[in-house]
Amino acid sequence: MTWASHAIAGVPMPAQIEVRSSTFDDRQAIYDILVRSGVFGRGDAECVDEMFVETWLSSREDNYRWLSCWCDGQMIGFACYGPESLTDRTWDLFWICVSPEARGKGAGRALIAEAEAQARRAGGRVMVIYTSSTPKYAPARRLYESAGFVRVAVVPDYYAEDDDLNIYWKRL
Ligand SMILES: CC(C)(COP(=O)(O)OP(=O)(O)OC[C@H]1O[C@@H](n2cnc3c(N)ncnc32)[C@H](O)[C@@H]1OP(=O)(O)O)[C@@H](O)C(=O)NCCC(=O)NCCS
Repeated sequence: MTWASHAIAGVPMPAQIEVRSSTFDDRQAIYDILVRSGVFGRGDAECVDEMFVETWLSSREDNYRWLSCWCDGQMIGFACYGPESLTDRTWDLFWICVSPEARGKGAGRALIAEAEAQARRAGGRVMVIYTSSTPKYAPARRLYESAGFVRVAVVPDYYAEDDDLNIYWKRL
């Protein structure tokens, strides 16, 4: 799927953003995007890397799905999503991250839209996203809200003292 990012008067050519299924070759780029995110640490990157490798080693029906976002030959973001086990067609968006220099151009929106579309095509009923209440996740919360997700629950002090869990929900 290709999206033209928002055209702004005076800017020569809007960048073409393309979202496609990740390949195993995207492994290092995903790791690097996480480490440079300013939000996630190396521990998070290791955790995502394990999930990524597990995906290619397993053929389970409820496996993780991965999307990579490209612009001008560069991988600028990724998303990981998939069906939540032991539910009836509930899908989760587990991870989403865009390179700092590529933010604000619609990549996050394009990744979510494609994850939703794929989940819908696979029979998904609802999609859920967990995120933190802290200021550094404000762009993520705004992205989810602008994509039509509704904050349906807050679990106080879930991640840490003064760091609540926000649960976002959308019917697919
Ligand atoms: C959250 C994140 C993925 C957004 O990616 P992005 O490519 O910058 O988002 P987009 O350009 O597609 O913006 C999508 C919407 O979110 C809003 N948004 C995104 N970042 C914003 C910011 N910093 N301030 C205000 N609004 C913002 C945009 O206004 C836009 O809404 P609109 O389409 O109604 O105008 C990116 O900031 C990121 O990687 N953050 C670090 C990782 C992270 O927090 N991941 C989520 C963990 S739960």
